[in-house]
Amino acid sequence: MSSRIEELKKLYEQAMLGGGKEAIEAQHSRGKLTARERVELLVDPGTFLELDMFVRHRATEFGMDKRWVWGDAVVTGLAKIDGRRTVVIAQDFTFMGGSLGEMHAAKIVKAMQFAISQGIPIVFLNDSGGARIQEGVDSLKGYGDIFYMNVMASGVVPQIAAIMGPCAGGAVYSPALMDFVVMVKKTSFMFITGPRVVKAAIGEVVDEQQLGGPEVHASKSGQADFVADNDKEAISIIKRLLSYLPSNNMEDPPVIKVGDPPDRDVPELDEVVPEDPNAPYDMYRVINGVLDAGSFLEVKAHWAKNAITGFGRIDGRSVCVIANQPNYLAGVLDIDSSDKIAEHVRFCDAFNIPIITFVDVPGYMPGTRQEHGGIIRHGAKVLYAYSEATVPKITVIVRKAYGGAYIAMGSKHLGADFVAAWPTAEIAVMGPEGAAEIIWRRELEAVKDPQERAKLLAKFTEEYRSKFANPYVAASRGYIDSVIQPRDTRRVIARALDMLSTKREVRIWVPPKKHGLTPV
Ligand code: HXC
Repeated sequence: MSSRIEELKKLYEQAMLGGGKEAIEAQHSRGKLTARERVELLVDPGTFLELDMFVRHRATEFGMDKRWVWGDAVVTGLAKIDGRRTVVIAQDFTFMGGSLGEMHAAKIVKAMQFAISQGIPIVFLNDSGGARIQEGVDSLKGYGDIFYMNVMASGVVPQIAAIMGPCAGGAVYSPALMDFVVMVKKTSFMFITGPRVVKAAIGEVVDEQQLGGPEVHASKSGQADFVADNDKEAISIIKRLLSYLPSNNMEDPPVIKVGDPPDRDVPELDEVVPEDPNAPYDMYRVINGVLDAGSFLEVKAHWAKNAITGFGRIDGRSVCVIANQPNYLAGVLDIDSSDKIAEHVRFCDAFNIPIITFVDVPGYMPGTRQEHGGIIRHGAKVLYAYSEATVPKITVIVRKAYGGAYIAMGSKHLGADFVAAWPTAEIAVMGPEGAAEIIWRRELEAVKDPQERAKLLAKFTEEYRSKFANPYVAASRGYIDSVIQPRDTRRVIARALDMLSTKREVRIWVPPKKHGLTPV
């Protein structure tokens, strides 16, 4: 017996070393932690229940029969993170660059099946050279199986990917199918084809970071939700993100009180909106004023900055934050901000997180670039997402709410449960100046002197503004439930959240369908 135990200990030690001491040193010299070090940082001490430590690949071609390690370059298992069960997958770059073959993939799929059947989130730490070239089509089959499981898990359990090294080729599609992507500065990149292929195919010369580094994906493609300075920070972002989420779609998110009173008066909100209706201001002041102190976690902070998306807490309850940002492109809805908002609304609806929307939007972005780029179908995603969402929906119209964008941004007409407006709200088909130019076109054209015409336009604009650029017309029709003083916003939202906490919206009048056809 004791010899068998000794043998097990030896095998265990071998497995713990992954690709070996030298490869571990090389990993450290790249500024990266190993898969096991990452798992250790991520999970609560003593909770990791590892799966498949002694799995080996079955490949024999290209000398693979002599080249193998226990575990086949991926660490998988179940563990607790801040006391909550999670499935953890960490690719081990120290053996064959963490490349993915048949058995490597099988381990990942098994872990994902656990997550789905147990109703617990998936955290996938990517660090891989992609399909293991020596295993050929078996590697591709492995990726296909993972993508399929990503789709099966979608909307059932939260899926978080961290990119902590290479993620190239088809490998990018697993993170792309997951809910959130965290990328690590300097060491990570994601692309469909690498610099060499790009040069050969289209003659473009670009390096890995310029092509698919974290900064690029965080600010240009919108693929990265978070950017971390290093592995350690990436792991703390994952933990923080998980704290806002339920373990699955049948649960409510955890309530974490920080002792910030829900009925707190926020006098500074009375001063946020400038006198000049066209002057910008910072919507973060509103968001941070309303949420529990320090609870705002922004998602996609560097992409489509005219919209703000994230999570926060009010009286400890998780909420989804959606807002226009007047400080950036006047908060207009364009292609990217529409995608950003629609995606976040859909995620929060899938996972029972009430949606709070702060509106200051001058409309959808005009122009050929937007029209030809598909603003119609991208903008439609926002309408679809809000209409589809059945979680509590609370909207605060802070200032402008014009045209289609008024409807899109969580209006009563798309099923908002409670809509409040500040006295500074302007709700109309379009901005006063544009409206005046159309309504009084003939009168304006009759005046030939440009200065006189400008004066007349200003008069008509003011007339339109005083009639419609306020919350009271909409309130008189019940499209707005309440006009509130800005300083009361936190307490009003907290009360509305409490009142809506048992909301169940069952749309029995809609005939059963396989699924709706969300615009893409
Ligand atoms: C087999 C691989 C590998 C792979 C890396 N290695 N990628 N082995 N299959 N895909 C091995 C290397 O040969 C090397 O082995 C070790 O891992 C470490 O790699 P290095 O090159 O020394 O590391 P580094 O300089 O950091 O470069 C990492 C890298 C590079 C950028 C990932 O290795 C690389 O470009 N690899 C190929 C990437 C690729 O083309 N993958 C296929 C993508 S297509 P030794 O023996 O030296 O230790 C794809 C299709 C999926 O994934 C489709 C799904 C639908």
